[in-house]
Amino acid sequence: MLRLEDVHAYYGESHVLQGVSLEVREGEVVCLLGRNGAGKTTTLRAIMGLTPPARGRVVFRDRIISGLPPNRVNALGIGFVPEDRRVFRGLSVAENLQVAEARGRRQRRWPLERIYDLFPMLAERRDQPGDRLSGGQQQMLTIARALVGEPDLLLLDEPNEGLAPVVVQQIGRLVDELAATTTILLTEQNIRFALRHAKRGYVIQKGRIVHDAPTDEFRTRPERLERLLSV
Ligand SMILES: Nc1ncnc2c1ncn2[C@@H]1O[C@H](COP(=O)(O)OP(=O)(O)O)[C@@H](O)[C@H]1O
Ligand SMILES: [Mg+2]
Repeated sequence: MLRLEDVHAYYGESHVLQGVSLEVREGEVVCLLGRNGAGKTTTLRAIMGLTPPARGRVVFRDRIISGLPPNRVNALGIGFVPEDRRVFRGLSVAENLQVAEARGRRQRRWPLERIYDLFPMLAERRDQPGDRLSGGQQQMLTIARALVGEPDLLLLDEPNEGLAPVVVQQIGRLVDELAATTTILLTEQNIRFALRHAKRGYVIQKGRIVHDAPTDEFRTRPERLERLLSV
């Protein structure tokens, strides 16, 4: 469904992605693991066209999307939940969702009623200002906001960062539920979360993929994974 082929990306002179290749098949939950600064966020930004690849290409459903602006990438069916989980200030929870709703041709898989079923906590707070929610609730809202855009592929950038263990568990359950209908590429530093919720994993180090394997294989050799992530 999604393929990155030898993607290079720069911030100014700084060569941050140095030939990233990876693949996500329809229906999979894939995790991109790497320590801070390894290039996880930049990889997702390169897919979205926010940091356009200088070399290589991004292919989504047999169509080359590298070079397209972010709004076009989004309209083709890729939803992005950035790590800073920016809730729109001054808008209520309901308004945050309404402004992101997909319009027009797409069949609606995520009408607001279904979102509120999945996130009862958001339903209870639908008239409250979005920026008053707790960190975990804001993360749920930004995920819900990506879903109402009707993505076929969801990119989640460190969805658990800075959140309490109980919220991490909720996000894990949510990922498992979404996995039934949505393909997911998520980034993580937390090995346990990746092992529990992803089917395959890639390890990125200094802008290069250094390992990829089914998570089952990581599970049997966790020390190897720890080593890859500590470099
Ligand atoms: N806006 C930016 N300008 C310059 N360098 C950046 C910028 N954003 C990230 N970097 C650098 O690019 C590298 C990869 O960053 P990033 O993709 O954010 O890593 P990760 O998400 O894995 O923590 C890091 O060395 C980081 O310092
Ligand atoms: Mg990051």
